[in-house]
Amino acid sequence: MKPIDRNLLGEASRFIALRMGLHFPEERWPDLARGLRTAGKELGFEDPDACAGWLTTRELTVRQIEILASHLTVGETYFFRDPASFDVLEHEILAPLVSGRAQAGRTLRLWSAGCCTGEEAYSLAITCARALPDLKAWNVSILATDLNTRFLAKAEAGVYSEWSFRGTPGRLRDRFFSPADDKGFAIDPTLKDLIHFSYLNLAEDAYPSLHNRTNAMDVIFCRNVLMYFTPDHQRRVVAALHRCLVDGGRLVVNPAEASTSAFPMFAMEDIGGVTLYRKTSRPTCVGSWPELVSPVPAPPAPVAPAPPVTPIAAPPPAAPLALARTCADQGRLEEALASCEDAIAAERTNPAAHFLCATVCDELGRVEEAIVALRKVLYLDQDFVLAHHALGGLYRRLNKRKESRRHLAVAFELLSRRGRDEIVPDSDGMTCGRLLESVRAMTGA
Ligand SMILES: C[S@@+](CC[C@H](N)C(=O)[O-])C[C@H]1O[C@@H](n2cnc3c(N)ncnc32)[C@H](O)[C@@H]1O
Repeated sequence: MKPIDRNLLGEASRFIALRMGLHFPEERWPDLARGLRTAGKELGFEDPDACAGWLTTRELTVRQIEILASHLTVGETYFFRDPASFDVLEHEILAPLVSGRAQAGRTLRLWSAGCCTGEEAYSLAITCARALPDLKAWNVSILATDLNTRFLAKAEAGVYSEWSFRGTPGRLRDRFFSPADDKGFAIDPTLKDLIHFSYLNLAEDAYPSLHNRTNAMDVIFCRNVLMYFTPDHQRRVVAALHRCLVDGGRLVVNPAEASTSAFPMFAMEDIGGVTLYRKTSRPTCVGSWPELVSPVPAPPAPVAPAPPVTPIAAPPPAAPLALARTCADQGRLEEALASCEDAIAAERTNPAAHFLCATVCDELGRVEEAIVALRKVLYLDQDFVLAHHALGGLYRRLNKRKESRRHLAVAFELLSRRGRDEIVPDSDGMTCGRLLESVRAMTGA
């Protein structure tokens, strides 16, 4: 087999680090070459040199990125991988959250970032079901994202072979799965409904954002994923995940895959041998653990004469739409909805208020109300591209293919008229190019 030219491999590794965040230092070039060779075949290249040269000189589509990613990352996962993490999740994280929120809120938000074929996300769902005897009385939302759409398709199907259960006690499989065709096991549909699977490239996409549901997380599992990233991307991903958590929220990673220096903004906890990173509201010192910074007493400040007392104007109350937005960002969804209603009462013709209302309704699982709100957005502004995109996604979930296609086609048309790097109005900085790729991924174009 002809080896790939080393200069081309060097360029390909730089491109892949930049665009996909995947880390291939020189000692891993044999893995890179193997991945490029198999990806090249799928992309239509007989000669791997041609594939390596091609990818650095073109603007790649999301589909091409996905093909590359599927050959350059490993889909190794199984249910309850590292069972101690799930024990700690159930007893040390969820139990206190559940008792604290039983009277008010009754919301839990978790994220499996780099979910692969879904085993981790379903393990989170099963753990929530075990921690919450009255699961139906709660709004449990589990986001599961990956950059490999083939993995996501398998995850959404929710049917697994024996091999995925290699770390799972038999009683859990019997309780939460039922036998399916071809000797597979299908996840309980009630648990499946808790999970929202979607494409998200941790190295490229914007998060936290209400639009991809990455806001206000109580718990993020991002295990066996950081090891793919360059140290620089690791730091950026960890900082962005920190912003996605609510105060006190926990990030769970595999401690072996990243240096602890990548987590300076977190407090590190060790519970029963499991390492957790907790977001605290206390200011932290970049580059050191907040716990380890010994408080140095400040010298007494010189006493200055007291300035004359002037009355301080009270801060003006936040406008209802801004308040709704803040509540939604923090996951206080019922409050967000109430403020959306105030915002709509004050500005009935503002499509952004109806759009936020739709987003919050969707997060609360009130799909029909979300659709009504999105229709109002389009009545007020028929070019509101995010509303077409959201309706496309909602109808797709409801299996209304024709309506979904119609809205996605309009979104496609509107986005095609704009520059790739233009920011989509009312998004959290998402570019038109990225939204267009998402529309393409949803339509299979
Ligand atoms: C080894 S699997 C880990 C699955 C699961 N988290 C676990 O620990 O069992 C790594 C996953 O990370 C995904 N991944 C790698 N780079 C990614 C990126 N930039 N954005 C999102 N997912 C990524 C891969 O597609 C793969 O599914």
